[in-house]
Amino acid sequence: MRTWAAVAILLAAGLSLTGCGPKREPGATLMSWAYPQSKTEPQPPTPPDPIHVPGSALSFTNAQVADDKNPVDWFPDEHPAPPPVVAHQREGGPTPCAECHLYNGRGFISAADLAGLSAPYIIQQVQEFRAGRRASAQHDRHDVEEMAKVADKVSDPELAQAAAYFAALPRTPFVRVVETDTVPVTKAFSFGWLEPVPNGGTEPIKGRIIEVSEDMPTLYLGDAHIGLVDYVPPGAVARGEALVKSGGKGGQPCAACHGPELKGAGDVPPLAGRSATYLARMLWDIKTGARQGPAVTVMQAPARGLGGAEITDVVAYLASRKP
Ligand code: HEC
Ligand code: HEC
Repeated sequence: MRTWAAVAILLAAGLSLTGCGPKREPGATLMSWAYPQSKTEPQPPTPPDPIHVPGSALSFTNAQVADDKNPVDWFPDEHPAPPPVVAHQREGGPTPCAECHLYNGRGFISAADLAGLSAPYIIQQVQEFRAGRRASAQHDRHDVEEMAKVADKVSDPELAQAAAYFAALPRTPFVRVVETDTVPVTKAFSFGWLEPVPNGGTEPIKGRIIEVSEDMPTLYLGDAHIGLVDYVPPGAVARGEALVKSGGKGGQPCAACHGPELKGAGDVPPLAGRSATYLARMLWDIKTGARQGPAVTVMQAPARGLGGAEITDVVAYLASRKP
């Protein structure tokens, strides 16, 4: 997967992987739990060849799994044939979409899920990245920089094909929300996600949302079946439901634009059953003006009406809904 290639590039450049570089600026102080960031690169486990994952009859080698120009597809029967730009990198072309968004569109941890978003919305967002209007409140967030590079390199016909592919995929549940006082002790990795520290024990949740993969070692192999766990503070889901229904200080119920069950309406994206930290980053990015552009103008008042603790509750509720 992409992280391995990044390790290779850093090693080739003679850079340190020990995470003792200068501290990043806390661009998103208040919601810092939603923007995990560090210089530490993940060290994915390397099982012996040939590699298998549960539920797939296929097998791949470590070299195939590490090839980010041709992301492996463990479940080719579960989706239509992808267009070239989703699956392979042409000379000078973008990193294939499936490398980060997976073939079923659920998205690697920290990348957005794309399954079932409308094709015009997908195209418009990639154009926003290209125009530099869709940045992150955390200015040097590595994964968003990578998405912006994709937006620069993808051609318009390729983008139209990728958008049609992801728009046609069904939205399926992949997020499990757990209300709890205590969470596993986690560690941030450079592409913007958390992983539990092995034998690291637990710590108080302290008003944060802690999002981890259900099975990081298998996700590293490119297994698109692996979902997310969102640990959220006790009571967050019920408080969030009330805010979503009232719209908080913004005063407009979210369902007015995002559809009665928050599953999206026309080109307005769905909110139900998405990653809580992705939703939190988007609300914070829109509230702080990092994500801009004409299409997002109507979303500014709803986002500005929510404080940090309210965003935590709102996204806990949204993530818990059926997609
Ligand atoms: C290197 C990883 C990577 C690759 C490759 C990649 N993306 Fe992304 N993409 C991301 C990340 C990370 C985000 C979330 C960005 C953010 O936080 O604003 C994202 C977000 C998006 C969004 C916004 C979704 C939303 O709900 O608003 C769209 C649309 C998108 N990507 C389309 C694509 C397409 C089409 C391709 C292939 C041509 C692609 N991406 C390839 C990492 C990637
Ligand atoms: C007046 C209509 C309107 C209302 C009300 C509204 N939204 Fe939105 N929202 C939008 C539109 C339109 C977009 C897409 C913006 C774009 O194209 O960049 C959006 C985008 C979003 C996104 C980013 C999704 C993504 O895929 O990146 C989130 C998160 C979000 N809204 C949450 C909410 C929440 C939570 C509420 C209620 C508190 C709410 N919205 C109320 C219109 C609305």
